[in-house]
Amino acid sequence: MKITLSVIKADIGSLAGHHVVHPDTIAAASKVLVEAKRDGVIIDFFVSHVGDDLQLIMTHTKGVDSPEIHGLAWNAFSEAAKVAKELGLYAAGQDLLSDAFSGNVRGLGPGVAEMEFEERPSEPVIVFMADKTEPGAFNFPLFKIFADPFNTAGLVIDPRMHPGFRFQILDVFEGKSVMLNAPEELYDILALIGTPARYVIKRVLRRTDNEIAAVISSERLNLIAGKYVGKDDPVAIVRAQSGFPATGEILEPFTFPHLVAGWMRGSHHGPMMPVGLRHAKCTRFDGPPRIVALGFQVKNGRLIGPADLFDDPAFDEARRTANTIADYLRRHGPFMPHRLGPEEMEYTTLPQVLEKLKDRFQKAETGYKAKKPATADIEHD
Ligand code: F6R
Ligand code: MG
Ligand code: MG
Repeated sequence: MKITLSVIKADIGSLAGHHVVHPDTIAAASKVLVEAKRDGVIIDFFVSHVGDDLQLIMTHTKGVDSPEIHGLAWNAFSEAAKVAKELGLYAAGQDLLSDAFSGNVRGLGPGVAEMEFEERPSEPVIVFMADKTEPGAFNFPLFKIFADPFNTAGLVIDPRMHPGFRFQILDVFEGKSVMLNAPEELYDILALIGTPARYVIKRVLRRTDNEIAAVISSERLNLIAGKYVGKDDPVAIVRAQSGFPATGEILEPFTFPHLVAGWMRGSHHGPMMPVGLRHAKCTRFDGPPRIVALGFQVKNGRLIGPADLFDDPAFDEARRTANTIADYLRRHGPFMPHRLGPEEMEYTTLPQVLEKLKDRFQKAETGYKAKKPATADIEHD
């Protein structure tokens, strides 16, 4: 049976700042999905959260980008936002950028990761949910999972994985994507995805049969709205086992808390801390960026589980390392590279400061001809 797994997320307001979802908003979204399940629109659902983000995990048979499913998600978020407004939660409704739903949530505000597959006799999937970061934060772990034999033993010793995986990489600035094959094009893949603010892994396919292995949400709210309205905290779905990476191979990259963009005011780098749901709240300096992994079995579209995969002492060391890195980075205060570069900050006062000081800047004898600074590989108007 062909099943679609849709994970749609939005920040519709949170408790005591941008740090944790309120249970009443989860209940409001769940109520909408209970009715949709009763009416046969969806087969099953699980409502979850990380930091200030609410995630709707749904199964159905309507395919990806279904207006009916996206409309349902929109209604669930709108009901949750209503409760958020009643409770006076912080930033209530912030990701619902348009009052009118127009058939597809893509480009409106919420983040979407969806995949359709023929259910295997046993179908383990892992749903990742991250807060205080951006979709490109998945570039590093997905590369490790699907292309690094030092992470994923199956790439070397499982005949079904040995031919490798295919990466769809999106240029979020240009709205273009390219398919690249691992292992032959590893260096080209890395040349792109090492710039995670611009090049984002969107999908991973298995080379042997083009079967979908992973999908990542790639909305960048700051680009959608033309100004900062909330961060694009991402979600991802990864299929596990039996010709895909094992659950343990999928979780392994998160033992290394890699640096991601999006901490405090969407303007700082921080370590990605893997946590269980009970610690899925962003406190210290509104972070550090956190990621939750929920493991499900999909059976005839039913969601069995979840297993809260990072709620495990095996990730204690990663959390400790993340705290050490957080201490180290915080001591930089407002300095780069803790603070993001000017082209990536969600909050800035630089234009006002420059305007205020423009008459006080004097010509300086530098001995060289001043020219416009290079802006790496990101162009700006
Ligand atoms: C939001 C976030 C937070 C806020 C910060 C300031 O997800 O990352 O760090 O940017 O708390 O929020 P405001 O400007 O709403 O006071
Ligand atoms: Mg968030
Ligand atoms: Mg937020």
